[in-house]
Order: sequence, then structure tokens, then C-alpha cells
Amino acid sequence: MDTGFVTREQERLLGELFSFLRIPSVSTLPANAGDCRRAADWLMDEFTRLKCAKVTLLEGKGHPIVWAESPRVPGKPTVLVYGHYDVQPPDPLDEWISPPFEPTIRGPNLYARGAVDDKGQVFTLLKAYESVLDADGRPPLNVNFIIEGEEECGGDVIVDRLNLEPERTHADAVLVADMGYYAPGIPAVYTALRGMCYAEIHLRTLERDLHSGTYGGVAPNALEALCRLLMDLKGVDGRIHIRGLYDQVVPPTEAELEAWRGLPFNVHEYMKEEVTSTALTGLKEYSILERTWALPTFEIHGIMGGFTGEGAKTVIPSKAAAKVSLRLVPGLTRDGVQAALEKTVQALAPTWAKAEVRPLHGADPVEVDVDAPAFAVLDRAFEEVVGRRTVSVRAGGSIPIVPKLGMTGAPVLLTGVGLPDDGLHSPNEKIAVQQIWDGIRVFGRFFELMAEEKPTKR
Ligand code: BES
Ligand code: MN
Ligand code: MN
Repeated sequence: MDTGFVTREQERLLGELFSFLRIPSVSTLPANAGDCRRAADWLMDEFTRLKCAKVTLLEGKGHPIVWAESPRVPGKPTVLVYGHYDVQPPDPLDEWISPPFEPTIRGPNLYARGAVDDKGQVFTLLKAYESVLDADGRPPLNVNFIIEGEEECGGDVIVDRLNLEPERTHADAVLVADMGYYAPGIPAVYTALRGMCYAEIHLRTLERDLHSGTYGGVAPNALEALCRLLMDLKGVDGRIHIRGLYDQVVPPTEAELEAWRGLPFNVHEYMKEEVTSTALTGLKEYSILERTWALPTFEIHGIMGGFTGEGAKTVIPSKAAAKVSLRLVPGLTRDGVQAALEKTVQALAPTWAKAEVRPLHGADPVEVDVDAPAFAVLDRAFEEVVGRRTVSVRAGGSIPIVPKLGMTGAPVLLTGVGLPDDGLHSPNEKIAVQQIWDGIRVFGRFFELMAEEKPTKR
């Protein structure tokens, strides 16, 4: 590897990353579809500049995938690099210290939507690749890139594509840098991701909104009925009231629990710096790591209904809806939980209300074996560059396509260079600039070390 690459090129690299982060590629908002395409084009230009042998936009019914192949190096292993160029909506805008799409460095950090999730990390992979190219643009091994634009909105473009063309996942290792260190100075690989069942619950109690004086006292209020239903779905003790849900959960092994107990964990810091609350919720009989890694959740993301404009309107709303999701752990499936949620909502809704569950997207939970040789290679790269091997942990978050990435047998390395307080999906999302430099070096070293491995036969 060109060891001086990062030191020498820092300024150029930051400029390039800024131009990527300036594109508001919010995949879930239809108004930003053009921006998603611009982010894909930005990547296409970059792969072309890096002399990739194949650079293609894979189209589907949604935001396109960027696919790029390095020049082939016969007899050498292949690494498939996955990432996403789309980001979450930046709201609430007034809580950003600097605008979400105007990347800004303050102190040791770079602030922008997508700084760590996932554009900043995709950037470290691109630059790691650049750092190992020889003068002809040839890397020491084969690298394929698949960078999608619908990870944050649960789109199907990449699912459809990999169902049609599973051979794209043929590789000796899949590298996913879309998460972070367990703690500052402690890199991680992930043994499980939670799955997801995202839906809207719609409730109608009247044919039309009514005067709250004339009919107040008798007419069923849709917002009130919805709130009661939501409160019934989860108790104050944190228990989700979906029949059979917990019976299906496969608990972590004793060895896993033992390992988790050995991880450094400071509750006070966790509450103050990450959760930013003075209390924690959920099933008290389980540890915080079990609650965030090994148990299902039910969250309300938003409630629509009634009058929320300025001023006061005296009205009884006829309809209301909530966006909700459940996180799923091993033992649960998206389809199973979807059906159970539907059944529970119908059972909880009052007979005089019309309830409807509209599924938006979902993903099965995934468990990953971390004993393939590629994990040892990643460990060596981290050890050489940042002086520490990875710890095995789980993630509370989801990456829907991960099961498919490993479907033809390649080990999937879930890792990253984010830090716990980066604020993914929150206002003032950031990445520590040093983590970008370390990421470029670690992944560059990973490519070099992987190049010395024997390619697996297929
Ligand atoms: N990078 C995250 C997933 C993640 C977060 C993994 C933290 C590990 C630790 C990813 O971009 C994400 O946010 N995924 C969504 C997927 C969902 C929309 C299906 C999520 O988890 O909410
Ligand atoms: Mn992500
Ligand atoms: Mn995300």
C-alpha cells in the first residue's frame, strides 16, 4: 500500500467527500429522486476515474444500483464491497448546528447527513481501493462494488437484481462498512443484525370530521382510539403484546451472553452521550445489550391525524394513522410478525372503528458466522493500523440485503469505522475525521492482505 496516501492526499480527499455529502440523496422522499441519481452518477464518475474495468448503473423500479468491477487479476481472490449512497431525511432541520447537506468540520468531527451512514464509509472503501492501485490502475486482487440507493427506504431494486443475478455475490468475502466500532478504539465485527417489520396503522371512526362541541361527548375520536390501540400494543413495562412473539425468539447462547458481560459498558455515559436521556425503557429483567441486540422492539415513528396547523380548530378527527415498526431477532421472520401484527391490531381495534395495517417494508433478522479466514484477515488489518483486533458484537440496526449478500456462500464481514455517538439518523450526524483516515488505511490493508489468501474454489 502507498503508506503516504492519506497524509499526502488529505485535502483533496476531504474536498471529494464534501462534494458527495452535499448531494441530498434522501431515498424515501420522492422529491429527492433526482438527487439519488446524482449521488449514483457521482459514484459512476469516481469508479471511472479509478479505471474500473466495468462501471454500470443497474436500473430497477426505484433508485439505481452502482456496480463496478476492478480490472481482473486472475488467480487472486475477489472481494465484494457493499454500501449505500442514500441517506435518511434530515429533519428536524432546526436542530442542526450546520445545515445537513453543507458538510462542516467542527473540532475533530465532520458533520453532515450521511457522514457516517453510509456515504462517509463508502468513501473510505473507495479511497482504500484507490490507495492500493498500481500505476496502471490494477489492484492486487479482484474487487467488485455494489452500492445501492434504497437501503434506508426498504426498496426492492437490489433484492430483485440479486434474485435475478445471484452470481454477483460470488466472492471470497463481502465487505460491508455500514456500522461502527463497539467503543472508541475498539473495532467490531457483527454476528447478527435485527430484522424489521415496518407498517402504517390506519384507523377510521367517523365518515367525516365533526364539530367537537356539537358532538363532543359522544362521537368516537379517531386519534384517541389510535392512541389507545398503540398503548395496548406495548405495555409500560416494555412488553410487546403480540401473542407468541417472545416464545419464538431464540435467545443468545450462554457463551454470547458471557462475552457481552465482558465488554466495557458505562451506563451513565451511555445514557448521557448516546441516549441523551435520564431514564431507560424496556424489559428491565434483561441487560441493555440484550434489549438492543437480542429482543424485538415496537416503536412508534410518527402519528398523523387531526389538526396540527397554527391556531386552534375545534374538531373531532375521523381518521388517524401511525407509522410503526418492530425490530426482529433470530427466531422471528418478517412475514410471521407482519401477520401477527395484523391480527393483533384487528383484535385490539374497537368494533366501531375500521382498522387497516399497511406494510411498508421489512427484513428478516440475520446471524453471521465470524470464523471464516477473511475475518482473521480483517483482524490483522485493524491490528496493524489501529493496534486492536475486532470484538464480536451484535447490532440493533438492520441492513435488509445482508442475507442475500451471503446467499452463495461468501462470508459477510459486517464492520465499520463509525463511533457510538455519531448520531446516525439524528440531527448533527457526524464522523470523526480520524476515523475516515483510519478506515482508508484499514480497508486498504485488508485488500492487500486478502490478495495473499488462496481464492476459494467454486
Ligand atoms: N447502517 C444502518 C444499520 C445499522 C445501524 C447497523 C447501526 C448497525 C448499527 C442502516 O443504514 C440503517 O439505518 N438501516 C435501516 C434499515 C431499515 C430502513 C430497513 C434501519 O436499521 O433502520
Ligand atoms: Mn447504513
Ligand atoms: Mn441508516
